[in-house]
Amino acid sequence: MRTTVGIIGAGPAGLLLARLLHNAGIDSVVLESRDRAYVERRQRAGILEQGTADVLRAAGAGERMDREGLRHDGIELRFDRRRHRVDFPALTGGRSVMVYAQTEVCKDLIALQLREGGPLLFEAEALAVEGADTDAPRIRFRHEGREDVLECSYVVGCDGFWGVARKAIPARLTQVFERTYPFGWLGILADAPPSHEELVYARHDRGFALLSMRPPVTLHPSKEAASLPTEAFVSRLYLQVPDGTDPEAWDDERIWDELERRCETDDDWHLQRGPITQKTVTPMRSYVHEPMRHGRLFLAGDAAHIVPPTGAKGLNLAAGDVATFARALIHQQRTGSPELLDAYSQTCLRRVWQAERFSYDMTTLLHRAPGATTFEDRLQIARLERIVSSRAAETDLAEAYTGFPFGRAG
Ligand code: FAD
Ligand code: DHB
Repeated sequence: MRTTVGIIGAGPAGLLLARLLHNAGIDSVVLESRDRAYVERRQRAGILEQGTADVLRAAGAGERMDREGLRHDGIELRFDRRRHRVDFPALTGGRSVMVYAQTEVCKDLIALQLREGGPLLFEAEALAVEGADTDAPRIRFRHEGREDVLECSYVVGCDGFWGVARKAIPARLTQVFERTYPFGWLGILADAPPSHEELVYARHDRGFALLSMRPPVTLHPSKEAASLPTEAFVSRLYLQVPDGTDPEAWDDERIWDELERRCETDDDWHLQRGPITQKTVTPMRSYVHEPMRHGRLFLAGDAAHIVPPTGAKGLNLAAGDVATFARALIHQQRTGSPELLDAYSQTCLRRVWQAERFSYDMTTLLHRAPGATTFEDRLQIARLERIVSSRAAETDLAEAYTGFPFGRAG
């Protein structure tokens, strides 16, 4: 098999890249090790920066997002039983974010790719990238029990943190920057209406909590069912837990009680409870692999970098990387100049490090490390006080949360 761009991984990075290339008339093949149902159900991100939503729209993949997604103009910070709203449009000249799950972004892109795009092979596991520093890189892969080779002009590794693409870059040419955190997130999905109309990020002596949501699910579109509820509400909620926590060690009652305690305020706010439908624990890490390119192999998304989820940046970085690659390759094909491809790693890393900085700041601002001293507690409160009392500090948060425009470092 032969293609111009061999894409490893059908997460948001690989799927969006295939779509952007298709729209520019550049052929690609996507290899995904898992099956379609797994990719479409894997619960992860929920917040799209304005730039990500704009790229999806421009790619012709934003129709359902615009219909069903929820535009959010702010978040709430909670600490010391108080609440403070950060108003994004007022602080950023009109920017906002979109609540629309990664699962739905993937479903939309998969449907488009299968209908209009090039081959997207599920249960096709890339085994290795060979000849990355030649003009003819190849992906060795296994599909339907057989080994095969995909001959490419370029390979883009969109295969996430545990993928194989990164391994094709010789260790002597790479530098890795990493930090792990002594806590993780217990995340749940619940059939419950959101407890607040916007996301709530709460700092508490017992640890961090986050109240988020998913767009409501339409239940009975038909007229005959007019007397039944038409929408089901879904809450997405997270609790800081010690590293290595078993999600089953937390029964539902305990999760709700803990969320309520960490988010309590002095006014009459209440937590909306409901049946919990999913429970997982995610470890947290910061990780950057430099460079993001070796010859004709390019890394994009989680394959090259990980952020702790507190700033909601992972999926958005992945979208930024592939938009940068697509622009660079289109430029190369139209003008013959490789200048943007040559600058790929540097261009992406500027944005990546700004997201690393912001995600680290949000994580250390809001989580309580085991053994944290009262001095550190007071510093966290002082940092939060600064954000809620200084327009400059609040603007810094709002600009980073809504995202720096693609192609600019920040
Ligand atoms: P992935 O989504 O990991 O996709 C990689 C794909 O490659 C997978 O489908 C995998 O099966 C496939 N693959 C791997 N190895 C191979 C192989 N050898 N051959 C073929 N295929 C392979 N980000 C945000 O922006 N906003 C948020 O609100 C947010 N919240 C999050 C909450 C949680 C709990 C978690 C865990 C993450 C969150 N993130 C968030 C991060 C975000 O989900 C990731 O950054 C995003 O999935 C990265 O996309 P990707 O396409 O690079 O990688
Ligand atoms: C969600 C995830 C995040 O990491 C975040 O910062 C905000 C919301 C979510 O899954 O809804």
